[in-house]
Amino acid sequence: MEKTFLMVKPDGVQRQLIGDIVSRFEKKGFQLVGAKLMQISTELAEKHYGEHKERPFFGELVSFITSGPVFAMVWQGENVIATARQMMGATNPKDSAPGTIRGEYAATVSKNIIHGSDSPESAEREIGLFFSQEELIEYTRLI
Ligand code: CMP
Repeated sequence: MEKTFLMVKPDGVQRQLIGDIVSRFEKKGFQLVGAKLMQISTELAEKHYGEHKERPFFGELVSFITSGPVFAMVWQGENVIATARQMMGATNPKDSAPGTIRGEYAATVSKNIIHGSDSPESAEREIGLFFSQEELIEYTRLI
């Protein structure tokens, strides 16, 4: 079953949006298989955002994501990668549709509440960066 990596960023944690965000994915029908509140090191942030290394905002990106705790999660379900991206809304909140997480809560592209993997390759890489195998709990859904 497909898995994705989602992370409530420091602004989302500070604004007490963890519960709302978890609830949206639960109600949609996806299955939570791993979650933890964590303080990201600069080293992990630089690896996670490695593809943006040459961008002018890379320094700002790393300093923001390490500025306070994040809530890292792994969710599972059919087409969860693409569907979660739709539920998050466009990266830049000026383009994110009403009803999406960023459409509802985010006002700037740098503080945009949530990160989600954009492809199966990123999902695998990001899950591996943030979670050990033992931290992912596979369990049968009863409903
Ligand atoms: P995220 O999905 O975490 O992946 C990369 C992040 O870079 C993105 O969300 C934005 O928060 C951030 N980002 C993209 N463009 C800019 C920008 N112009 N200035 C600052 N941050 C940006």
